[in-house]
Amino acid sequence: MNGAEMMAFTGEVMSSDYVMNLMGRVAAEQPASNALVARLREASVGNPTQWPFHAVPLPVAVKSAQGSRLVDADGRERIDLFLGFGTQSLHGHNPPEVVDAVRQALGSTVGNGYFNEIELKLVDLLRDITGNEAFVFLHSGTEATGAAVRIARAATGKRLVVKVESATHGTHDWGVQSSVALMHGHPFVPWPKVDETGVEALPFAKGVSPSSSVDLLIVPHLDERAFEMILARKDEIACVIAEPSNVSFPFPEKCLPFTKRLSKLCQDEGLLFVLDEVQTGFRWGIGGAAVTENIHADLRVYGKVLSGLGIPLSAVGGPMALLDHARTTGVNLADFGQKTTFMSTHMGHHMALLASHASLSLLQKKGEAFYTRTRTRIARLRERLAQLRRDEGIPIHAVGYGDFIGLLMVGESPHLADDARGLAHRVNPAASLLLSLSLRARGFYTYSWPFLFLGDAYSDDDMARIEEDVVDSLIEMRDGGVALTTPWGARL
Ligand SMILES: Cc1ncc(COP(=O)(O)O)c(C=O)c1O
Repeated sequence: MNGAEMMAFTGEVMSSDYVMNLMGRVAAEQPASNALVARLREASVGNPTQWPFHAVPLPVAVKSAQGSRLVDADGRERIDLFLGFGTQSLHGHNPPEVVDAVRQALGSTVGNGYFNEIELKLVDLLRDITGNEAFVFLHSGTEATGAAVRIARAATGKRLVVKVESATHGTHDWGVQSSVALMHGHPFVPWPKVDETGVEALPFAKGVSPSSSVDLLIVPHLDERAFEMILARKDEIACVIAEPSNVSFPFPEKCLPFTKRLSKLCQDEGLLFVLDEVQTGFRWGIGGAAVTENIHADLRVYGKVLSGLGIPLSAVGGPMALLDHARTTGVNLADFGQKTTFMSTHMGHHMALLASHASLSLLQKKGEAFYTRTRTRIARLRERLAQLRRDEGIPIHAVGYGDFIGLLMVGESPHLADDARGLAHRVNPAASLLLSLSLRARGFYTYSWPFLFLGDAYSDDDMARIEEDVVDSLIEMRDGGVALTTPWGARL
């Protein structure tokens, strides 16, 4: 099948009677949300419900949230499978310990632009948890990976950034080049070419400056040639950046050895290695993958669950010798030409620091029991899905890593894929989206795909309901005539 035929097949699935009926049912249950969303569409474009490429179909307007539950504008309570892109996965929405800390400061906080002692308290906590010496606090993962690259360029005086095909590092001009397959429309859209000079840089978004090979080298993931490409240009390299295990290929047993080899090569060759722990920080063990899996990195980047209550916060951690490139000498006039910066008006807002401190303190207090609980839930869910595959032949898999950051993936044996390209051919995008929608009809909130970020957000009863409804949804989809595998099968 070529891309057009694949797209036609998906279009057929999405316009089937089963899907039309399902969409009609979901829409009919949320009139107040539909009316608010229609107004939003005319007035504001940045809301995640309106993002291009994989926005949630028939979004709801959310009024309030507590623990694992949301209440929408129609007054319906839903189990939240989305948890704010997973940022609320540690404790669920509005944990009282974090809310209280923030509430106490409201009314007297000085906010942004000043130094408040809370920053030192958070640094002490993060030093303890991650072992980094110093930090810079920003808002988003995108900003933080961008800042890490800038520090690396300032430190080395070199320009070239090396990243891995299919990696997720954010939406800056270099982050969107040959990145997550789904965002590019692969496998419907042809894959970028790979030759001895690297992977062709193709942006997934319009309006992006074309990538220059002077600034960016994209190496193929899980491919020996990656190491040769790096060695061939080692004198130009400011840093190599990688995820411990790629979001878009969430199989740690395959990704980790590759990431460790990248890290080792950088150590051997004196290159700076940046580990993107935006997803894995505090979730792959409390210290993140660097600590749990013993991956050496010069700079580590954190986001997502670093924030408390979703108040934007990200960080770069590393030795002061490197972060010093963004710190004043103490004499302004001596800084010119010597320093770098990523100055931003609201960075390190005290409420964000406070919420993060409260949330991570709570996690630290929960200790190893948090991770044991989470792993037990993952194992139970995986066992239930394995049973469904055995008994009903339904191709459903819970994929993720660390302490479960992942997806319910509908498709053929995703763990057999060799890389993100292979995975994209095994997943059925229409069925994955329909599983989300079917769960919506059963009283859940999901994003476009059924993400699943386990932690303490869900009770054991919630987990039992999630398992039961995932199983029932898939059986209903199959009985409704939805193809759960794809006619194009594994890698073309
Ligand atoms: C591994 C990784 N790095 C960086 C980012 C970008 O973070 P943000 O969305 O906060 O800009 C993401 C976002 O999902 C991510 O998964």
